[in-house]
Amino acid sequence: MKLIKTSTYEALSQMAAAQIISKIHANPRLNLGLATGSTPTGVYKRLIQDHEVNKTSYKQVNSFNLDEYIGISKKDHNSYHYFMCENLFDHIDIPIDQTHIPDGTAENLDEECRRYEQFIQEHGGIDLQILGIGQNGHIGFNEPGTSFTSRTHIINLAESTRKANSRFFESLEDVPTQAITMGIASIMESKEIFLLVSGDSKAEALARLVNGEVSEQFPASVLKNHKNVTIFADKEASALL
Ligand code: GLP
Repeated sequence: MKLIKTSTYEALSQMAAAQIISKIHANPRLNLGLATGSTPTGVYKRLIQDHEVNKTSYKQVNSFNLDEYIGISKKDHNSYHYFMCENLFDHIDIPIDQTHIPDGTAENLDEECRRYEQFIQEHGGIDLQILGIGQNGHIGFNEPGTSFTSRTHIINLAESTRKANSRFFESLEDVPTQAITMGIASIMESKEIFLLVSGDSKAEALARLVNGEVSEQFPASVLKNHKNVTIFADKEASALL
C-alpha cells in the first residue's frame, strides 16, 4: 500500500481528483468504482470543476457504486442513488444508463446481488475503485466479520455504522438495518484502489490498517493483500501513525 499524507482535506481531494482525471484522459472508457459518504465529496466537487473548466468527458465512462441501502427508493434523499446524482452525476456528462448502483428495492434481493456481481464482470471489471473507510474498518458496507471471499451480498449494518450514518437521517430509527454491498472479493478484483481517509474520527482505523494484522475482523486490512492501493490521508487521519 502506498500512503500519501496531505496537510488538509482540500489537498487530499485535489490530489486524488487529479489522479482520477489523468486516468480518465489515459482511458476514456474507464470503469470507475465509486463510494458514498462525506469523504469523497471533495473529490467529486473537483471532478465537476474540472469537467466545467477543462471539459474532461465521462461520456464513455461506466461507474459502479459500492453499495445501497435496502428498502429506500431511488428518489429518497437518503438513497445512495440520490446522493450520487446530487454530488456527481447531474453535474458531469456521464450518461445516466452508464451509472450503476445496486437496487435496494429489488423484489428479489438475492437475485439483484447476483445480477450486480455478474454485471460488473461482464463489463470487464473495475479499473479504479474509490473507497472510504468506516470507523470500524468497513469498506463498502462490509462490516467486521465479513468473509474475504464474499461477493455482492446483503449485509446487516452494525449498530455503530447506523449511528455514524444517522447524521444524514431524521432519526436513528430511520436508518435502514440492511444494505447491498459489493463483497470483499469483488472489491479486491479492482485493478487499482484509492482509499480516502479524512478526519480525526478515522485516525484509529488508519493506524490499525497500517500497523495491524490482516483479519476479517477489520475488513480494510484485506487491502494489504492488493498489489495496487494508494491511501490518501489528511493530517488529522494520520495523527496516530
Ligand atoms: C458508509 C459507506 C462507506 C463509507 C463510509 C464512511 O457507511 N457505505 O462506503 O466509506 O460510510 O463514510 P464517511 O466518508 O462519511 O466517513
